[in-house]
Amino acid sequence: MRATLPLPASERHLGVPPETTEFEREMMAALSAHPRSISPKYFYDTAGSRLFDRICDLPEYYPTRTEFGLLARHGREMTALFGRGADLVEFGAGSVTKVRLLLDAWEHPGRFIPVDISADHLHESAALLHRDYPHLQVLPLAADFTRPLTLPPHPRRVGFFPGSSIGNLGPVDAVRFLRQAFQALQGGGLLIGVDLVKDPARLHLAYNDSAGVTAAFNRNLLVRANRELGAGFDVEAFDHYAFYEPMHQRVEMHLVSRRAQTVSVGGRLFEFAEGESLHTENSHKYTVDGFRQLACRAGFLPGPVWVDPEHLFSVHWLAAPA
Ligand code: AVJ
Repeated sequence: MRATLPLPASERHLGVPPETTEFEREMMAALSAHPRSISPKYFYDTAGSRLFDRICDLPEYYPTRTEFGLLARHGREMTALFGRGADLVEFGAGSVTKVRLLLDAWEHPGRFIPVDISADHLHESAALLHRDYPHLQVLPLAADFTRPLTLPPHPRRVGFFPGSSIGNLGPVDAVRFLRQAFQALQGGGLLIGVDLVKDPARLHLAYNDSAGVTAAFNRNLLVRANRELGAGFDVEAFDHYAFYEPMHQRVEMHLVSRRAQTVSVGGRLFEFAEGESLHTENSHKYTVDGFRQLACRAGFLPGPVWVDPEHLFSVHWLAAPA
């Protein structure tokens, strides 16, 4: 099998899923740079997607619960904006749980197109959804939604981007993503969940849970690199470090090596000094007005916004005029 035959570099990835090669390339680039950082999208292999689902159930992790409450309470008003028979496209659909609240409230549903990078997890979730909504047409699309998507043709598309996943992008990349979404959704609109700025202590707890699930989620990146790339990270020698950085209004997650160690990716060796960090995630927080301004820069026309009484989380309707 693959492991026993020393193949030339050009053939090393035959039969390996393309994400692996991309992961290897990006991991090499991350380890070559200083400071070192990698896209959080690589968290979401099957194990990582499961760990993320556990994060969503943590008592400290308020976003999921709060957004769920908003969708449950205001699903009627939200889906009334979708229009009849639109194609509903969910970006980064994951376990496909939140959209159920919309599907339950939507009077004249169209097709549902969940898009996610984690193909197995997506197809499993889509099958479960289909079981519960037998009349709903579900067209899962395994793809990286940060790239331009090829969607089935339809005159009216509505996007759903919950969970404040947009927070992974900095403002510049967020506008770039929203512009691309605008193009795909023109004539319809986008329903998007956005986490709000708040007491840093509250944010700190949400990314430093007492059960250590967020730490395991963070370290899973290294577990994945060891399994898929044979990197040889000493996973337990990395500390999970997450903090709110108010200058950029974002939570940063890092993996900090407690000791000097050498890892190997793509046939090259990389040294970690004691105390050196790999920056694994940014999670940007917004004010309601700040986010509406961002959406305007992408061409959207901001509409109604729903916010919970504690002002923890917001859901925005952004119209995409034709
Ligand atoms: C899925 C990007 C919205 O930033 O809160 C949760 C991911 N990372 N705990 C977030 C995450 C650590 C989450 N997003």
